[in-house]
Amino acid sequence: MPESEREPFQLGIFMPNCSHAYCISSYKPEPDDWTYESNKNIAQAAETAGFDFLFPVSRWRGFGGETNYLGTSLETMTWAAAILAATHTIRVYSTVHVPVFHPLVAAKMGGTLDHIGQGRWGINIVSGWSATEFGMMGIELLPHAERYQRTTAFIEILKGLWTQEPGSFTHVSPWYQITDGYVMPQPMQQPHPPIVNAGTSDAARDLVARLCDWAFIAPPSAEATPDMADDFKQRAQAYSRQVRCAGMPFVLWRETEKEAQAEVQRIMDQTDMVAAQNWASGLSIGSESMSGFSLKMLALGAGALPVVGTAYQVAEQLARLYELGMDGVLIEFLHYYDDTVRFGKEIVPLLRQMGVVA
Ligand SMILES: Cc1cc2nc3c(=O)[nH]c(=O)nc-3n(C[C@H](O)[C@H](O)[C@H](O)COP(=O)(O)O)c2cc1C
Repeated sequence: MPESEREPFQLGIFMPNCSHAYCISSYKPEPDDWTYESNKNIAQAAETAGFDFLFPVSRWRGFGGETNYLGTSLETMTWAAAILAATHTIRVYSTVHVPVFHPLVAAKMGGTLDHIGQGRWGINIVSGWSATEFGMMGIELLPHAERYQRTTAFIEILKGLWTQEPGSFTHVSPWYQITDGYVMPQPMQQPHPPIVNAGTSDAARDLVARLCDWAFIAPPSAEATPDMADDFKQRAQAYSRQVRCAGMPFVLWRETEKEAQAEVQRIMDQTDMVAAQNWASGLSIGSESMSGFSLKMLALGAGALPVVGTAYQVAEQLARLYELGMDGVLIEFLHYYDDTVRFGKEIVPLLRQMGVVA
């Protein structure tokens, strides 16, 4: 897309709808930010600060260790309903695990949520990876390739129910059978609310290229960003579509770079190694081959990109992500409420000056 046609950088918050979000560390000043009251306050502050969207994580149990990382969490369809009702302009996403929801129920809930928010809702559809979470429900974790085939069917059903004449959509696949599918109300947004997938495997990239509007991804470094973002976009072009990519930075800034780095060090020094190991091995990212240092790096924000320094350095690093092909970011903070307010006062004006946000 020519630079002149590119939309401004979209600023999002990876919301703390779960405990210890998202530091896998016992150094976490407000581990219980998961409460609705806290999420509502952060959401309202985000709207004032100039953020574009709010994004939750979907979890069904914690990862053990001394923190029981993410062990208490608000379910994200019901969470979004309340957050939409408490805000006015900001977009709010839900995250849905394909194996847990029937797509017609998700389509109906989505139609409802989009009406509650007057056209401000979006959906992140994830295939799921935690055998422990699904195991407790007696749900089998499908082999990776089949997981994504099923997610493809799930998204095709959502789109069919949201865009075709109610009562006319039919679908048959090994996982679903929809006969004369009827969902009313359909969502307010036309043709449908934005659809996100948060996966990076080959299968995930192809799914996004064919059917999604956004890829929410976590490249291992800023340097790895252009290749990954370009790959998603080129694959979409092959289907005559456009997709956008958002990255996941952990943002922390202080008066001096030294102070900011010292705070990062405190988080890493108090890594909850048991929870980090459980999280990493559950995600099958090669826990045996991961050094202690890699696990410590997870402590900051479970795979988030560290964006650390002074306010100006942080703004520069975010602007760089935009240059490298990211169309947005879902930001993790250490002190969610305070950092949301400070970000609006100290970082957003810099990003405006740099010409990356509206
Ligand atoms: C930004 C982001 C958000 C994610 N949110 C969730 C989530 O809420 N629940 C979940 O089970 N997995 C979540 N994931 C994990 C992915 O959906 C996916 O399972 C994982 O990245 C492995 O995907 P892959 O097998 O396609 O590489 C998230 C990943 C990213 C990068």
